[in-house]
Amino acid sequence: MTFEFDCTAGCPRMAERPIAPFDFPVGQVRRVASNDPPGEVDETRRNILKLAGIGAHVLAGRGLGAAALQYAQPPTVGLTSYPRVQLIDATGKPLTLAAVEQEYNVDTSDLFIFNYPLRNEPNFFLNLSPANGQPPSPSNPGKWNAPGGIGTNQSILGYSAICQHLGCPAPAISYYPPGTCPKTFDNGALPFYIHCSCHGSTYDVTNRAANLTGPAVLPLPQVVFDTDSSGNIFAVGLNGPPVNGHLNSLQGDYGVGSTSQLTRESPIILCSFPA
Ligand code: FES
Repeated sequence: MTFEFDCTAGCPRMAERPIAPFDFPVGQVRRVASNDPPGEVDETRRNILKLAGIGAHVLAGRGLGAAALQYAQPPTVGLTSYPRVQLIDATGKPLTLAAVEQEYNVDTSDLFIFNYPLRNEPNFFLNLSPANGQPPSPSNPGKWNAPGGIGTNQSILGYSAICQHLGCPAPAISYYPPGTCPKTFDNGALPFYIHCSCHGSTYDVTNRAANLTGPAVLPLPQVVFDTDSSGNIFAVGLNGPPVNGHLNSLQGDYGVGSTSQLTRESPIILCSFPA
């Protein structure tokens, strides 16, 4: 499948990442962790080894089939509860509300991504406050008092950066600042959103990443943030449906650890929406 661009001349930010039309494979395209962190146990691998050992006993006539079933369990790599993970900015400093309110805004076009709660589980980090610090309005796009937002204007938000359709990750799914594409929602009042260039799903960043266009039918999971008395920002949970590809957002890989550093990426901007 090749995607048709419907705004090659009308998208002011189209040239941010010059790419040719491309195909995405159907299905998961996420990376898979290759190394176990020191001190953590891969229960799946351990059970497979146990199963192999028991199988050898069974073959040897010792009748341990029931015991073998004990270890024939689904993968158990993961966490038992959401960790409190401090966010670190792209330069290595603790991320604070004050810094975010100065350096990030609704027009920020680079993607800032952090993993949470598991390794290889990217999330967008966004501040939807207008760049001029004035209250949002139709002529000054942005959002204050967003559900789940933190900061002075409750405009700082995090959402899973894995599409809820077939799992395309950032930067194929990207945040589109106001003016990126001609397409807007709510009669022009919502000119910024998260859009997946794989098949056109669009999510409302001002309202818990609800679906604006399909084919995805579920919202993106939203990161729950907390702060300490110094304004340091922590990820402490996820709300909404499980991360795409998981029955449970806590299972499927190792935890990210006690800190998670933002990475900066160039978005893939393709203004491609279902008709
Ligand atoms: S993976 Fe299909 S729209 Fe995102």
